[in-house]
Amino acid sequence: MTPTAIRADLLDFQAEPGLDERASPAVRWRPGHWLLINGDGRIAAVQAEAPGDDWHKLDHTGRLLLPGFIDTHVHAPQLDVIASWGTELLDWLNTYTFPAEAAYADPAVAHAGAERFLDALLAHGTTSAAVFATVHRISADALLAGAQARGMRLITGKVLMDTHAPDTLRDDVVQAEADCEALIARWHGQGRLAYAVTPRFAATSSEAQLAMAGRLLARHPGLYLQTHVAENRAEVAWVASLFPHDRSYLGVYARHGLLTERAVLAHGIWLDDADRRQMADAGAQIAFCPSSNLFLGSGLFGWGAARAAGVNVSLASDVGGGTALCQLRTLADGYKVQALAGQRVTAWALLHGATRGAAQALRLGHELGSLEPGAVADVCVWDWACGPVAQRRDDIAQQRGPTVADLHERVFAWLTLADERNLVEARVAGQSRFQRGPVPA
Ligand code: GUN
Ligand code: ZN
Repeated sequence: MTPTAIRADLLDFQAEPGLDERASPAVRWRPGHWLLINGDGRIAAVQAEAPGDDWHKLDHTGRLLLPGFIDTHVHAPQLDVIASWGTELLDWLNTYTFPAEAAYADPAVAHAGAERFLDALLAHGTTSAAVFATVHRISADALLAGAQARGMRLITGKVLMDTHAPDTLRDDVVQAEADCEALIARWHGQGRLAYAVTPRFAATSSEAQLAMAGRLLARHPGLYLQTHVAENRAEVAWVASLFPHDRSYLGVYARHGLLTERAVLAHGIWLDDADRRQMADAGAQIAFCPSSNLFLGSGLFGWGAARAAGVNVSLASDVGGGTALCQLRTLADGYKVQALAGQRVTAWALLHGATRGAAQALRLGHELGSLEPGAVADVCVWDWACGPVAQRRDDIAQQRGPTVADLHERVFAWLTLADERNLVEARVAGQSRFQRGPVPA
């Protein structure tokens, strides 16, 4: 690509902000600066002065530029059941999710679903994700091929589930291991793609299948592990009855060697202190999914307790339990969930959890999540305000002083009021992959 320079208000993080520290030194704010993107799609530099004539210049003065959002837990096929009424987790799976996922046995459905999902991620400002496919090998194949075509950093895997699921959605240990091996051989480490061993949750895998998942992780360095843990009280009770000899739900995964430093476990609402210590010791990650936790009525995640225990927390949509692919909606819900739990978290902590913090959770901090020279230029340009209400709020916030705490007021109002309509452009490895059409007057 042509070396490109973009002028905008640049915002990223150079460390992890405290949960409630508005004047955080971790914030890097460079208004009206140029972001220089090399021909190889990596960030070359950030500077105040315009670069020379050999740079193609794009002037987004007065707009915000951030690293593209990273969604550390999202289900591609569940776009088909997003916003389904009336159930908690286990009924929601049986009533809506399993029937929808069964359709992905058809390669045409899997292919069209993957394309629709990846384009939708980009149209919501999410340039990277850790994604659940379905139990069908073709569904993971289609996602990985689609991500490759778009140059995206994508982590996914076929779901493992060999028990407590409808016949059409159950695999078996031998076939599942063969499918995983084939997918790993074809995709893992190819460009920006990586494979995640993906047992759906402890309840839908036999002991033999969990053991197989552990063998895959031990056999192939660099594989990810993604699953769910301690999301819902009925689910926790069910898992306790299925695995009566394990101390806790998390203990089932630990016993099979699944708690690695590349393990991303969604939810973790009903973990205890010993679980949190075990996660921190393993270097495993929690994906906090506030929109989903509210929608399914699962509970209030203890972000403060996780952080105090040294567990890395990133923010994730968990669509279709979550109701929006837009990470700004996830973050706004994250603030509200934490408010209910008695903790006020800053815009900085929230944004960090969907950018630099998420990249670090995936062990990809050198590549993603910041505007550091050398990082891949996955970046998004956003309008500060869409519509008169947000515009008025932004005008008032701008009248504040120049400190980071003053800036916080503006950025917090932005993340609370903005959504994908504010997204102007998404770039992946420097290439423009989404551009907003003309905004209606
Ligand atoms: N637990 C097991 N499967 C799922 C799923 O698809 N979504 C959520 N939110 N939790 C799960
Ligand atoms: Zn999930």
